Amino acid sequence: MNKTGRHSEAYCQHCGKLLERQPYISVGATYCSEHCFLKTIDVCASQEDMFNLLAETLVNALDLREHETGLHSKRVACHTMVLAHRFTSDPNVLQQIYWGTLLHDIGKIGISDTILLKAGSLTESEWIEMRTHPEKGYHLISQIPAMTDAANIILCHEERYDGSGYPKGLSGDRIPLGARLFMVIDALDSITSNRPYRKGHSFEFAKAEILRMKGSQFDPEAVDAFSAEEEVLRKMIIAKCHNHASLVSSK
Ligand SMILES: [Fe+2]
Repeated sequence: MNKTGRHSEAYCQHCGKLLERQPYISVGATYCSEHCFLKTIDVCASQEDMFNLLAETLVNALDLREHETGLHSKRVACHTMVLAHRFTSDPNVLQQIYWGTLLHDIGKIGISDTILLKAGSLTESEWIEMRTHPEKGYHLISQIPAMTDAANIILCHEERYDGSGYPKGLSGDRIPLGARLFMVIDALDSITSNRPYRKGHSFEFAKAEILRMKGSQFDPEAVDAFSAEEEVLRKMIIAKCHNHASLVSSK
């Protein structure tokens, strides 16, 4: 403070703005706001980065419960973006689709171990509990105001285009776009992944299944986008299978 009782002219060390009032913090350097202070210490580069970190932390928590679900979630989030870019270039819409697909199975955190980790097939009562995971995930993520559209994708990710899915039996455009794109990618990843009871099928096998269910399980426009991006997705699936084979052979 100078002799006139005013702070000497000072500038924010991050954004360079002249400080017109008491600095937010002055610890060797001065900053005008919490935001600028956090940026310089790399706590968060931006609010969006903070939510990305939150989403990744949540999916990593799911990964700790069941590793394969965590890996699958990360893959389908990336692969769904390949289709989503064909429908919108709005970064906010893309961001919500990414979060919604990354966290689609987050509600499985609330499913008991005896069901989630069961090696054999589920009984009817166990299926009833398993089918609560979209609503459990929705209730968890819809508490975050920045992720409400993503939460809606989570709620609808087990719906089917023809209305035969759950929890609400929604059909057609009543299912959010992100969930309709996710359904195709989820099938592609599931069909081409190894299961305890069978080896993963080829990309061609999965493609035939997806085309067969165009207009029933899957939105025709989502299947058309799949066909248009076939070569990109084929490379991504081959890379997934290669990585999995490397992991198995290194054990
Ligand atoms: Fe699911």
